[in-house]
Amino acid sequence: MTSRPPFTVSVFIGTSLDGFIARLDGDIHWLTSRGEQAGDMGYEEFVAGIDTVVMGRVTYETALAFGVGHWPYDGMHVAVLSTRLDTGADPRVTVHRDLDGLVRALTERGTKSVYADGGQVVRSFLRAGLVDELTVTTAPVLLGSGLPLFGPLDADIALAHRSTTVHAAGFVQTTYAVEREDQDT
Ligand SMILES: NC(=O)c1ccc[n+]([C@@H]2O[C@H](COP(=O)([O-])OP(=O)(O)OC[C@H]3O[C@@H](n4cnc5c(N)ncnc54)[C@H](OP(=O)(O)O)[C@@H]3O)[C@@H](O)[C@H]2O)c1
Repeated sequence: MTSRPPFTVSVFIGTSLDGFIARLDGDIHWLTSRGEQAGDMGYEEFVAGIDTVVMGRVTYETALAFGVGHWPYDGMHVAVLSTRLDTGADPRVTVHRDLDGLVRALTERGTKSVYADGGQVVRSFLRAGLVDELTVTTAPVLLGSGLPLFGPLDADIALAHRSTTVHAAGFVQTTYAVEREDQDT
């Protein structure tokens, strides 16, 4: 990534202790069932500072499966990354074919704060050097296998620890800022 876009990108995501965001079949009951005891763990406060959510096609399809009347992104612009979804099929979202086109479109519409969601999308943003802040909420469970949050990188990404909070039901939530070469702190 050569130039910084004029918006921030934050990740706010739940994982198992062994780093999975869903089982291989997409199941997240292991997370949501424990999460019911823990409350929102700062999610509402987080999204109050967000104007745009960017998600992968798989996370979008998971949100659609919540059913009519359960669209969880009211008040946010929703951008979906997909090489195959019809653009224009769902008036609630804009579909983008690649990261460069997405960044251009978000820049043109005056985006200030992006929430990146979905494992593959988060990895794409990390590899492109686009993530500013990561909040990872770890559930007290080992799954052994599943869909990963993190993956291969071209180079290390140095992080600065910001905070750690222990929530009910044994969730441990840690926020990191991504350290950049072009900044002093
Ligand atoms: N634990 C949590 O907090 C949490 C949060 C969010 C989601 N989830 C779960 O995680 C699962 C989804 O995660 P995932 O990693 O499998 O998928 P994902 O990131 O949601 O979606 C992957 C898809 O997004 C598209 N995509 C991603 N990056 C792209 C890029 N740079 N350019 C173009 N298209 C791109 C591709 O769609 P095409 O194949 O259409 O090209 C790709 O197949 C679901 O089960 C969801 O419920 C869990």
